[in-house]
Amino acid sequence: MLGVFDSGLGGLSSVRKLTEILPREDIVYFGDTGRVPYGTRGRETIIRYALQDLRFLERFSPKAIIVACGTVSSVALDALRQATEVPVIGVVEPAVRAALAASRERKIAVLGTPATIRSGSYAAKLKAADPALSVLGQACPLFVPLVENGHIDPADPITKETVKRYLEPVLAFGADTIILGCTHYPFLKRAIGEYVGEGIRLIDAGTESALETKRILEEKDMLSQAGGERRFYVSDSPQGFAETARVFLDREIGEAVKYVDIEKY
Ligand code: DGL
Repeated sequence: MLGVFDSGLGGLSSVRKLTEILPREDIVYFGDTGRVPYGTRGRETIIRYALQDLRFLERFSPKAIIVACGTVSSVALDALRQATEVPVIGVVEPAVRAALAASRERKIAVLGTPATIRSGSYAAKLKAADPALSVLGQACPLFVPLVENGHIDPADPITKETVKRYLEPVLAFGADTIILGCTHYPFLKRAIGEYVGEGIRLIDAGTESALETKRILEEKDMLSQAGGERRFYVSDSPQGFAETARVFLDREIGEAVKYVDIEKY
């Protein structure tokens, strides 16, 4: 069983990719919908929430935990790794590797929540790999509420205007590669792609973390041969989550969503 968690719906971008490339793995997903967003909170709060999310998922004896949240991966990954024996896979390292492979001009922009950009997590890893690289960090606080409320259509005027606001400086900077450093943002990939045009590579942190999970399971000879069950837990209304998740995953998950009181962990 794989444990996957996010502050809300965004981690479903990882689940979608995991389902495609590892269809036989059972997955338990926790979305902290009662406390989203994490990305506008302080470090201590994010770490406390992340440790509770971890403790909840540990009850299912997962063989790996995927932190499908750019904010938690940026701020709390070390704390999580110290707190458990289970391998913990974040989104920052895999996305950075993919961006380094994709960028020709060595100008990379990182889109993330305020906490992610403030942490400098992506920029530090990019620069450590190639000090000559130029990196622009762009916080996009309005993207998460857009996604959580299902405003992902590129033709939606609110979506269009918000994308323009955040991506204008990225175009002015001359980025050839953009890291979607928050797992909510892949749901805005079409809108972002239409605005920036085809020449710019978009790296999706959710997808890259799923590919990394496959690599690690193969390496450790831990791939599952049978299974494929999906279970979802949330800390707010299961019904609201199931409705939006149906659109994001392109499948019905109503029965599989349950409420959990995450403050107990
Ligand atoms: N899923 C979070 C991330 O990837 C964004 C939502 C939030 O701010 O909690 O950073």
